[in-house]
Amino acid sequence: MDIRGPRLRKQSERALAFTSSMAFDGRISRHVIAVNIAHTIALMEGGEVSREAGSKSLKFLLSASSEIPTGAKAEDFHQMLEQQAVDALGLETAGYLNYGKSRNDQVATAIRMELRLKLIELLGAVLDLQGAMLQLAGKDGALIIPGYTHLQRAQPVTLAHHFFAHFDAFQRDAERALQLYARVNLSPMGAAAMAGTAVKIDRKSVAESLGFEGIVRNAMDAVSARDTAVEALSCAAMTMLDASRLAEELILWSTSEFGLIELDDAYAASSSIMPQKKNAVAAEMVRAKSGSVIGDLMAACAILKALPYSYNLDLQEVTPQVWRALDDTIESVSVLTGMISSASIQPDSPGKKTPDDSSTAVALANYLVKEHGISFRQAHAIVGYLVKLSVESGKPLQEVAPPKMAAASAKFGRRITIDPGTAKEILDPRRFLESIVTEGGSNPRFVPEGLKARQKELSLAKSAVSEMSSSLKSSERKLNATASGMAREVKSRVEH
Ligand code: ARG
Repeated sequence: MDIRGPRLRKQSERALAFTSSMAFDGRISRHVIAVNIAHTIALMEGGEVSREAGSKSLKFLLSASSEIPTGAKAEDFHQMLEQQAVDALGLETAGYLNYGKSRNDQVATAIRMELRLKLIELLGAVLDLQGAMLQLAGKDGALIIPGYTHLQRAQPVTLAHHFFAHFDAFQRDAERALQLYARVNLSPMGAAAMAGTAVKIDRKSVAESLGFEGIVRNAMDAVSARDTAVEALSCAAMTMLDASRLAEELILWSTSEFGLIELDDAYAASSSIMPQKKNAVAAEMVRAKSGSVIGDLMAACAILKALPYSYNLDLQEVTPQVWRALDDTIESVSVLTGMISSASIQPDSPGKKTPDDSSTAVALANYLVKEHGISFRQAHAIVGYLVKLSVESGKPLQEVAPPKMAAASAKFGRRITIDPGTAKEILDPRRFLESIVTEGGSNPRFVPEGLKARQKELSLAKSAVSEMSSSLKSSERKLNATASGMAREVKSRVEH
């Protein structure tokens, strides 16, 4: 019997293909089987299905394949599985599979189950990238490099300071994914179509057997909501924004203009015409994929906007956006990890040179404030004027400052002098960095402590993620063991 039922005549092939989710149901098919197993156990425990029919169904489900054969035609895997069960076991037995459940609560549940795994994968990838950045910071972190604002040289920083900044951004991405995990980890099962069901199934025990922390409270919300999917897309998009900014810097830093980093050839491509070329294509792709992921987020939002409650097939179209975005994000982040851990910092690069470019000018201004009691704005003007003279004469600021200080300062209110030794010392990049006192600043003395704190955060996050993962695995094992035990019931009863 065709489980589409007698209510409708046959669907057109074109409409079936157009409305089917089979093309991407492979992402959730094994969860759909697990949900059917948990639901059947609940039906048996609630006395809603005979032990005999229930255990036969369990036996079928335990060996059901989650593979979707190419060319298989069905509305979705949910329908295909039930149809297969009915074909194999007959209506009297398998006809209970959707008693008290709907594809609406089932798909929402299966999506959450896959989302849990993908979030764990994403977290693993992000934490690995963070680990690679800490490793680099541990190795070359003391190096002084130019820091930029407006992509103009601004102030010297340590390499560690720069990578700590990226680390912290990814740390927030990880935090967001962890917080989202708790919202995802709730079971919609028992919501049925959207109103709940008169069939006695214990929602909490179904949730527990599928490894969920609890249930989605309202049955209509349970089938209608896709906000956790949007949040996952948003987590992915935010992570990709951070990834693309890092990728962009790898691209810039590996140019001969910056020359700060040498990427491993494994992540570069050559040119088909220019024999000398080494292009940072992997980083370019990360930068590009961030655009695709933002697009996936926008697509999901646009699909959900103004959609009436509760379930509509529109919701089906949200799902593949989520998988595509998470796949792209996980892959991008993992590629970045490979690039970072195989890259080498070029200690004598042109991009590293800082002393001649006035990038410590603010230190001279601060000195004038502290030592000579003028206001910062006056000091800013004096030093700005000296920088102008430095640029015009092509001489470094530390050379220009001593002979020109008296005239420059007099122009802005007070006559001050400075000797060459003092000017040199104040403008020295290392001294500039070592005089930084504010927490979170780029003083090289802060690096070991910053490294230690971040290593600790990283290992805490890693153990949280591995606990999440092992808890899912153990509930999966438990469900299968329970189901196998119950499936054997009928066989032994028949034998006795
Ligand atoms: N294929 C659907 C999806 O992915 C499953 C739920 C279908 N529900 C329905 N009432 N047609 O969302």
